Amino acid sequence: MKIDWIKRVSVIGAGTMGHSIAMVFAQGGYEVDLVDIDHELLTKALSLIHSNLKTLDKMKMISPSSIPKTLKRIHTSTSLEVASKADVVIEAIPENPKTKKELFHSLDQICPPRTILASNTSYLDIFALVKTKRPPKVLITHWWAPPHLIPLVDVVKGPQTSSETVETIRRVLVRLGKTPVVMKKFIPGYIVNRIQRAMAREIFYLLDHGYATAKDIDTAMKNSLGIRIPVVGVVQRYDFAGLDFALTVLKNPSIRLVSKDTIPKTLTHLVRKGHLGVRSGKGFYDYSSRNMSDILRERDIKLVETLKFFKRKKL
Ligand SMILES: NC(=O)c1ccc[n+]([C@@H]2O[C@H](COP(=O)([O-])OP(=O)(O)OC[C@H]3O[C@@H](n4cnc5c(N)ncnc54)[C@H](O)[C@@H]3O)[C@@H](O)[C@H]2O)c1
Repeated sequence: MKIDWIKRVSVIGAGTMGHSIAMVFAQGGYEVDLVDIDHELLTKALSLIHSNLKTLDKMKMISPSSIPKTLKRIHTSTSLEVASKADVVIEAIPENPKTKKELFHSLDQICPPRTILASNTSYLDIFALVKTKRPPKVLITHWWAPPHLIPLVDVVKGPQTSSETVETIRRVLVRLGKTPVVMKKFIPGYIVNRIQRAMAREIFYLLDHGYATAKDIDTAMKNSLGIRIPVVGVVQRYDFAGLDFALTVLKNPSIRLVSKDTIPKTLTHLVRKGHLGVRSGKGFYDYSSRNMSDILRERDIKLVETLKFFKRKKL
């Protein structure tokens, strides 16, 4: 199957996700129209893309000569009409069902029949929500933040999405250096966000009942699953433990897990005090002696170092 017919992409919404998704397509050689209703946000998006590219250059992930070429491929607009030239549209506007529904309706009118429409929704069942004349060409591509660094993209097909559409998008994502995982059908939260949500119940149970501190929990996770998951994942690890042993452990009733969502006391307390995390200078940890951009840069540098290690080791 050829994917060379895809040359131009529209990314709708230039916020946290959209600016970075647009950057990835432009780095991959695609012409990109980045659309937002807010002109100032488009200017901010371009400056964020520029600074992201400079960080990647400093980390020797890209060449400095590629930066102007990438930037030249990104065209900003406040008019959705530019999507009439798109082969693929990525929707990255806020998680509001009504706005997404209206946007897909407009895109369906504006875009030619060949155009594939992809949503970055975190949990909305867009297949039930949006009405278009092209259900075989509608799917979900759920990117991970920040999209220019994190490889995973959840690809989800609806009941009427064609295999050709899924395969085309999967191959485009691979060409962009991403790791698409194609799900067999829609479920809110996809794979990792569901597992993360289950973990959250236990994390807050341990914190709220004083079994461990935030730092203890992070130290424990970083020094166990943090090291093991990249090598054996969360399913293959049972093959190493022995499936009979796994069954015995899972049947053992002594570990009773939190089986429903509760409102975590520790989290509520911190939010009430205005401790919202990195952006307010305090959360579970204290960041008040450093500025936010330094903290974010340090995190990104560590993420890039980790990615480089995984790439070298082909993990
Ligand atoms: N933020 C994350 O970590 C994350 C991760 C994965 C998926 N998502 C999903 O991605 C989508 C976007 O999230 P975000 O965090 O980037 O949101 P955001 O609020 O940062 O950005 C959304 C942008 O869309 C623009 N916008 C709103 N309505 C529009 C319209 N009709 N046409 C064009 N632009 C419009 C806004 O001006 C804003 O700049 C959501 O569906 C969200 O659930 C977010």
